[in-house]
Amino acid sequence: MTRRSTSALLALSLSASIASAQTATTLKDAAAAVGLNIGIATNSNQVNNATSAYATIVKQQFNMVVCENEMKFEGTENPIGTYKYTGGDAVYTFAAANGMKMRGHNFIWRDQAGPAKNAIHDRTTGLTIMRNHIENVGGHFKTKILEWDVLNEITSGSSLEVNFWRTNIGDDYLDSAFAMSRRAVGNNGYLYYNDFGGDGVNGKSTSMFNLAKKWQTNKVPVDGIGLQCHLGSGFKKDDISANIKRFGDLGLRISLTEIDITNAKASDWTNLLTACLENYNCVSFVTWGLSDANSWIGSNCGCLLYSGSTPAPKTEMIQALITAMAAADPAISAKRKEFAAKGPGGVTGINFPTIQPMRRASGNLQGTASVPVFSIGSGAVVDILGRVPVVPSASAKSLDVLPK
Ligand code: XIL
Repeated sequence: MTRRSTSALLALSLSASIASAQTATTLKDAAAAVGLNIGIATNSNQVNNATSAYATIVKQQFNMVVCENEMKFEGTENPIGTYKYTGGDAVYTFAAANGMKMRGHNFIWRDQAGPAKNAIHDRTTGLTIMRNHIENVGGHFKTKILEWDVLNEITSGSSLEVNFWRTNIGDDYLDSAFAMSRRAVGNNGYLYYNDFGGDGVNGKSTSMFNLAKKWQTNKVPVDGIGLQCHLGSGFKKDDISANIKRFGDLGLRISLTEIDITNAKASDWTNLLTACLENYNCVSFVTWGLSDANSWIGSNCGCLLYSGSTPAPKTEMIQALITAMAAADPAISAKRKEFAAKGPGGVTGINFPTIQPMRRASGNLQGTASVPVFSIGSGAVVDILGRVPVVPSASAKSLDVLPK
């Protein structure tokens, strides 16, 4: 094909995507034109009746869902070793029937952790419970989930949060959670660290950024950062855009994962969406519920795109979002589509499942001997799929204490 006909084709497809964004009448059509996942947190009892007013809106307007609660530890493993997937399965069935993608929220968190908190009393019980949870839940949902929140809310201000996972396992619980997740879901899903309060550039997001850089250096398989975006009206678009950009410079996906904006004006919603649209690495935009009436913030929060239990659309806001997507820079949208199509793999240069050998530790591996081994965090050694050497290398401190 000549260069001229290639560029003519490109111009044609660009104008086609502009046209479809401009003529879109739903959020999801406008989002598809700019290569964005537009998502919503929901619960199985809200979508089990697929013809309810609520479910009808969800499938008409959104192309991604996430369980608000049902895939957390307490919803999936309670008591320890007893797994329950009915809530997540029901939401997935609804999503799949309507061509929607799904986020997985979450593997490791201090809250809603059910029996984990009391069952963990040292490093071995901590790592064992963590591994079994991630292997089972991740294994069950692994072909169904696009983005996994492996770690939820682990930073407090500029330091690591003190929680029962960290106290018992040690700081490398973070690295282990990612390594175990990669092993559990393979390269079917992108692995995320998700947190609140680090949406713009501030001390907390700088800690998150430094953690992400350290993980990349240590070959910990992180693919993305979730910015929860529990916001109040009047935040600064440019601040959030600059934060998204700096993670993009590390090659990381950004998803805005739990959006609600207290007392929001239409301009707040468009500002947040525009901060995302300005950055090719911002791939998902997820509202934390449909209507103020069922928001965890409270029914008078004025924080979502619909109000009331019927629910009634805040048309001005929804239309403003569609207009913002129609106005997005087509070059950035094209780059987003290309970026989002790249498989998981975390660190640039590592492309699952074709892994180039990096460094062999002296221990034998469980499974294939040819999988490379690396050292992570405070010295634990696992292979790149998160498997633990049976015989630890001299430098291995400890994931190897795990019984197998
Ligand atoms: C909230 C849910 O919305 C509530 O229904 C539940 O009672 C508590 O958790 N950060 C998170 C989410 O990562 O999981 C939380 O969701 C909101 C804050």
